[in-house]
Amino acid sequence: MSADHGPTPYGSFPGARPRRLRVNPAMRRMVAETRLHPAELILPAFVLEGAAEPVPLAAMPGVVQHTRDSLRKAAAEAVEAGVGGIMLFGVPEDAKKDAIGSPGTDPDGILQVALRDVRSEVGDDLIVMSDLCLDEHTDHGHCGVLDAEGRVDNDATLERYAEMARVQADAGAHVVGPSGMMDGQVGVVRAALDGIGRQDVSILAYTVKYASAFYGPFREAVGSSLKGDRKTYQQDAPNAREALRELALDLAEGADMVMVKPALPYLDILRRIADEADVPVAAYQISGEYSMVEAAAANGWIDRDRAIMETLTSVRRAGAGMILTYWATEVARWLNRGD
Ligand code: PBG
Repeated sequence: MSADHGPTPYGSFPGARPRRLRVNPAMRRMVAETRLHPAELILPAFVLEGAAEPVPLAAMPGVVQHTRDSLRKAAAEAVEAGVGGIMLFGVPEDAKKDAIGSPGTDPDGILQVALRDVRSEVGDDLIVMSDLCLDEHTDHGHCGVLDAEGRVDNDATLERYAEMARVQADAGAHVVGPSGMMDGQVGVVRAALDGIGRQDVSILAYTVKYASAFYGPFREAVGSSLKGDRKTYQQDAPNAREALRELALDLAEGADMVMVKPALPYLDILRRIADEADVPVAAYQISGEYSMVEAAAANGWIDRDRAIMETLTSVRRAGAGMILTYWATEVARWLNRGD
């Protein structure tokens, strides 16, 4: 530490004047320690089976459940803006959901159809990722299959995840994102991919995923039928140490990249993971984080664009190399313009 708050040798006080480096926008830009780049933004996107028109989400103003066509268009726009990747969530017709989440392993299930559509649109110009989880596909809304007592059955779920990994890789996913917080999920998915010769498909592990109230709007986005909560598999907010344990396990099981989720309420966890991990680290700015900013801005309570940039910069500063955000394309455009 070199700061000396006493007088300078010439006697003026205060001797240290940090404000000199904040004097104008050009100075602040030059000394900024943290910058955002379009390539590190990942756009999460929902596609609704059978939709004739995009369906706006009431709890996420500006976000829609896409039709197959509007999803292709959104992917093309993301490429145009220089966004790094897209994370796809499929929303099957209600009638197709069942206890084991069959649409998730049907080669013609909506997520697989969407993966093929998007890959044919973007080729290798955008990294195409798929949510590897059962909750969008089950009629009970849990991330796994249930046992006779109605509890989520970890090991039976792993078998379903293995099959999901295979069909998602076949459909063109560059990266699969196991997000169900089952023990052993990364290892099982890696083995399933390797077993069909798909050593080229990467795993972005949802390593640290807290049971959060901020997922609320996402449940509308995927038409979730969940009653109850996910507290027996997602992590408990008071705990930080188990995040490090989850990290060690996921790395040992073969995760190529790891994620922390949600982002803003867990920046301390993100920093710890970023300090420990020797793989790229992502953070997911989730639905509720998006909706809070949009709702406050719609009421005129905060400056929307500044709040968006501030939250993303905080997540970046806390150690995320990549950020999943529903604002990805919009923010990438701002960054390209030099806003
Ligand atoms: C599970 C999944 C969820 C989200 C991403 N993957 C929901 C959950 O765990 O309840 C939440 C994303 C968001 O809230 O934006 N498939």
